[in-house]
Amino acid sequence: MHEVQRIAELRRQVAQWRGQGERIALVPTMGNLHAGHLRLLEAARRVAPRVVVSIFVNPLQFSDTGGGDFARYPRTLAADAERLREAGADLLFAPPVAEVYPDGLQAATRVTVPGLSDILCGVYRPGHFEGVATVVSKLFNMVQPDLALFGEKDYQQLLVIRRLVRDLCFPIEILGVPTVREPSGLAMSSRNHYLDETQKAHAARLYQTLCQARERLQSGAAEIDEIEAEGMQALRAAGFRAEYFSVRRAADLAPPTAGERDLVILAAAWLGEARLIDNLRLDS
Ligand code: PAJ
Repeated sequence: MHEVQRIAELRRQVAQWRGQGERIALVPTMGNLHAGHLRLLEAARRVAPRVVVSIFVNPLQFSDTGGGDFARYPRTLAADAERLREAGADLLFAPPVAEVYPDGLQAATRVTVPGLSDILCGVYRPGHFEGVATVVSKLFNMVQPDLALFGEKDYQQLLVIRRLVRDLCFPIEILGVPTVREPSGLAMSSRNHYLDETQKAHAARLYQTLCQARERLQSGAAEIDEIEAEGMQALRAAGFRAEYFSVRRAADLAPPTAGERDLVILAAAWLGEARLIDNLRLDS
């Protein structure tokens, strides 16, 4: 596996593969890799002979770059590189911040996806999806992959990226990969490290609450707003600080109209120091 920190070096290697007619897949991550990330890599290997994995903790998508979430985000590059090597990645691109933002964060051109970025998580993390859309656009331009893979765990992020690819005419196919869960049902996430073992067991209640809501929806026993209110209540009763529990149209996260069937239930809630998000498709 090639390990590369500079854009020029990345481009040289990618150009060589492209010269050989090989398709290239990109898996963008912020590192601290777990089985969810590795599932994206597996899926990438099935669809392209060359897989680039990026590891970059992107300051632009954190609200507090001076400390807080960005500073304490787990960085485990050596262990991540080892896992990627074993799992068969072809190239690890792990640039320093100055390589991605050479003129600092303030001066950087931004990519904004209005509407989609301002709802659900966007309400609680202003600027977050702009940071994601900007860095993903930059990574797309650096790597110029044929396809890129993203987890459905971050469902809103996946839709933001599909939208920007369409709007900015990136010739890149976007593949969504189903959420990888712990045996308890808890969605795997780097932020689960902020939970102790007791909290981790408890955190599975988020997934269970989503499952209950899906059953209620499918049985037609309650209206959507009742189901949302019940979900919020159930999370609060279980000790979460719930931000939202919403039933939305899967295609664009708009509030569903009557009779809409392709739905997704999304939730965000804090447990201790960890902000957890999860979602469940109705047709899955
Ligand atoms: P990160 O949280 O490291 O996630 C990288 C990719 O792994 C994302 O596409 C995410 O949806 C996917 N992923 C995370 N947990 C998963 C799970 N349990 N099952 C399946 N896929 C999972 O998301 C980001 O980084 C960043 O915002 C990024 C897109 C890299 C831009 O900085």
